[in-house]
Amino acid sequence: MPLLKRNRFLLLASAAAGVVVAASVAVIGTAEAASTLGASAAQSGRYFGAAIAAGRLGDATYTGILNREFNSVTPENEMKWDATEPSQGRFTYTNGDRILNQGISMGAKVRGHALLWYQQEPGWAQSMSGTALRNAMMNHVTQVATHYKGKIYAWDVVNEAFADGGSGARRDSNLQRTGNDWIEAAFRAARAADPAAKLCYNDYNTDGVNAKSTGIYNMVRDFKSRGVPIDCVGFQSHLGTGIPGDYQANLQRFADLGVDVQITELDVAQGGNQANIYASVTRACLAVSRCTGITVWGIRDSDSWRTGENPLLFDNSGNKKAAYTSVLNALNAGGTTSPSPSSPSPSAPSPSASTSPQPGGACSASVSLNSWNGGFVATIKVTAGSAPVNGWTVSLSLPSGSAVTSTWSATNSGTTGNVTFRNVSYNGQLAAGGVTEFGFQGTGTGPTATPACSAA
Ligand code: XIL
Repeated sequence: MPLLKRNRFLLLASAAAGVVVAASVAVIGTAEAASTLGASAAQSGRYFGAAIAAGRLGDATYTGILNREFNSVTPENEMKWDATEPSQGRFTYTNGDRILNQGISMGAKVRGHALLWYQQEPGWAQSMSGTALRNAMMNHVTQVATHYKGKIYAWDVVNEAFADGGSGARRDSNLQRTGNDWIEAAFRAARAADPAAKLCYNDYNTDGVNAKSTGIYNMVRDFKSRGVPIDCVGFQSHLGTGIPGDYQANLQRFADLGVDVQITELDVAQGGNQANIYASVTRACLAVSRCTGITVWGIRDSDSWRTGENPLLFDNSGNKKAAYTSVLNALNAGGTTSPSPSSPSPSAPSPSASTSPQPGGACSASVSLNSWNGGFVATIKVTAGSAPVNGWTVSLSLPSGSAVTSTWSATNSGTTGNVTFRNVSYNGQLAAGGVTEFGFQGTGTGPTATPACSAA
């Protein structure tokens, strides 16, 4: 898609959300600051990676920075469909293997990118449809994942399958037109071919809680509840001059579904805020225990696909920019350790329950549940009455034996029995009839009665 479209970013408050660290999660010390991005990220068990291009590996400045700073690599183009299967059934891995071998030589993780994407399809696939295309897609996934079997840390199995804007729906493409189950079919094929690789869904414009990220969230929740093999969600994070205030909360709500999250293609338009935005993204990942690493989409500004925007951490000559220093400092300031020691694994899904909004107050709340044996995720919709709301509080009662384990887009007081949730800074103000959502994950069973809502 054209870059212009990608850059219609919401200019929301850029204050980083407060960092809540669960008592059981270790926080790394800051005594010994590491001096490279990779080593600094490794202090909390994370990686710091770069997208790299096979054609640049002969550039000594480029490879010097690469070898020094990064402990993960992603092929910028070399493992895409047009590169790996230029004509049907003929697979070419020369450049993909160059990236892989560069990663291996550095002792780095290699992220595979991307098995299925509606862009950079080879010409022969672009003109296919129906069963023939579905078979070709699955063969492609199987062949490429098999070629790289055991070597890839995480695969972007499906890239950019959701539409922009308010629909929260799938994007139209010839892939989508083979049937709505194409994504889960691809994940199953990838798991069968390379059981060791983490399998990710990857997309952009998902940098906060919005219709698109919620559509993806619902898909991941559905996949987890039905046992479709998905391990991670990639947030590309091609950012403009702002970052949504709920960037971290959005990562957290995905993590709370039981998947890892990764920042996969970070770059930020140069401007007054570039260094701060880079630091905010870094701190958000460090605060989410299942955020396993960050990848920037290129090394020097001159390597970037965003020509003229200077969105990376090194200038054209390979010098460290202010954004580099802010990322390094944020990494060295520490964070929760990763990966999270415990993760939910929904096994026996129950149909989602829903209660209707409570009428009469200045706001009302309704809950929908996604439950499994031993746990649940509750999504609570808060609706303002006929007057605007300047802050809200939702109270609900949990059955005995149940407890809140994490909350997003609200803060809770109490974790058992009667629990109260208060808005956070960015979602307290609602227009008359306006709606916002927050959620929490818990052990045991979810609330059964309609929550009470009171408005400020
Ligand atoms: C971009 C590459 O950086 C360019 O070199 C190429 O011409 C187009 O693709 N989302 C993705 C990446 O998932 O694969 C894209 O990479 C950038 C947007």
